[in-house]
Amino acid sequence: MMNSYRFIRYAWDDKKAASCDPVGRLIYRSNLLGSDQRITNTGGGNTSAKISEKDPLNGSETEVLWVKGSGGDLRTSTRENFSSLYQQKLLDMQLLYASRPDRGYKGQAEDDMVGMYTHTTFNLNPRASSIDTPLHSFLPGKHVDHMHPNAIISIAASHRCQELTQEIFGGTMAYVPWMRPGFELGLTMQDISKKNPSLQAIEYWLLEEAKLKRMPNEKELARQVIIVIGAGSGIGKETAHRLVREGAHIVCVDLNAESANATAKEITDRHGIGIGVAGSGISRCGPAVGIACDITKRASIRSMLDQVSLAYGGFDSICVTAGIFVPSDTSGHIPDDKWALTFAINVTGSYLVADEAGKNWLEQGLHGSLVLTTSANAAVAKKGSVAYDTSKAAANHLVRELAIELAPLVRVNGVAPATVVQGSAMFPRDRVIGSLAKYRIDYTEEEPTESLVSKLAQFYADRTLTKSPITPADQAEAYFLLVSQRLSKTTGQLISVDGGLYDAFLR
Ligand SMILES: NC(=O)c1ccc[n+]([C@@H]2O[C@H](COP(=O)([O-])OP(=O)(O)OC[C@H]3O[C@@H](n4cnc5c(N)ncnc54)[C@H](O)[C@@H]3O)[C@@H](O)[C@H]2O)c1
Repeated sequence: MMNSYRFIRYAWDDKKAASCDPVGRLIYRSNLLGSDQRITNTGGGNTSAKISEKDPLNGSETEVLWVKGSGGDLRTSTRENFSSLYQQKLLDMQLLYASRPDRGYKGQAEDDMVGMYTHTTFNLNPRASSIDTPLHSFLPGKHVDHMHPNAIISIAASHRCQELTQEIFGGTMAYVPWMRPGFELGLTMQDISKKNPSLQAIEYWLLEEAKLKRMPNEKELARQVIIVIGAGSGIGKETAHRLVREGAHIVCVDLNAESANATAKEITDRHGIGIGVAGSGISRCGPAVGIACDITKRASIRSMLDQVSLAYGGFDSICVTAGIFVPSDTSGHIPDDKWALTFAINVTGSYLVADEAGKNWLEQGLHGSLVLTTSANAAVAKKGSVAYDTSKAAANHLVRELAIELAPLVRVNGVAPATVVQGSAMFPRDRVIGSLAKYRIDYTEEEPTESLVSKLAQFYADRTLTKSPITPADQAEAYFLLVSQRLSKTTGQLISVDGGLYDAFLR
């Protein structure tokens, strides 16, 4: 038996169980079930056992339903977390309920039943009973475990859930459409189990409306999965942090695996792994995951997107910030291979991402957003950066072409940054010094990089209309706007975040 478990650990210890009384065994079982988050998420599910006990009033044997009360967690629950109720009195409540003309799903009678459970309390146990009590009482099994297993949730949350339940379990598991917990759900489950005595187990997906109402409002990007390509450095890294603050799950992608993983780790360290995270391999991911990918290679993009599907089941939006700047030599010349590399990353890379992701978007049938990164240089002709500037001009037009191609499901826009010196790998110390010299700004070789960077940033700032240095955070704001619903009617456009460079105004 034990050898047949491939993915879960067989944790039941007969010796330990034998040393417990029947309620102790229920607690032992509950703690074990709650300790594997693939079986039930933190705070989710409840368990029960129908146990024969001596009635304190007359000493006769009576059946008592021990059921985990509201609140608390199965993994850590103790005897104090379980309510004990006369099983027969609970069943008798069905007569009371049937006599009410206002019975029915979400009817007044159903709500009134909740207040009646206290009348069935056995042995003065003060623990408040769960809203799921009827389900545990009305199902005939001596032991009922109501879990939230990831595997079952994935079926319940899919489009063909009913068909899939039949296909996968071949009638050994029944399908119950979602109902709020309460008396009617208990009766429905009782009915199904009476009509289908061959059912091996009954699993269903419960959302507890009342609990959800008590939750704080969802963040703006909650339940969105966003891929940030270039997340290992500079603008991409900042964007990943910005979007996760709004509740998004972030796939941090970069050519450099180490830096992609480092950004994902920073996010997970700050925000925690989250509740209910379980699974094996990449599917055991929390708010962020790091994946290496070279966007100049279609196969690498496909494999990255496939891993995203394993991790999160799909994705909503993609921000591509990956880019390269190869300076020309002093004569203004750029070697042919560097020209090709510049176009391969800055233009073809974004196109390949859109083309591969387009297949997923079509298959998913969900709305999303693609944000590419161009540059103020796309609009301003100047010396010394011919490959970069023309590649970014091509990227500007790529935004428009893709907006047409991916409509109506996906909006495609571009962010056109300028001169973000801070945090960017595009401005290593040598390039900063080169620029300071070129613009005749005073500096010494001994100055720390930070001070050189801020001198150059201020010089660039002074050339803009708004006169303040442009930071990665300024850029991240634009990506946030474009992946959110705030600019939901905008596609095929470029947002410049350049402090106001009138040379780069688009005409
Ligand atoms: N920093 C600026 O002033 C500035 C100005 C205008 C435009 N931009 C554009 O903004 C974007 C981000 O700039 P940044 O300053 O954050 O640069 P950065 O160099 O700090 O970050 C770019 C990231 O892209 C990754 N990358 C490079 N090639 C890749 C590939 N083939 N596949 C996957 N990832 C790859 C790099 O590893 C790096 O982590 C770039 O497209 C750049 O052209 C930047």
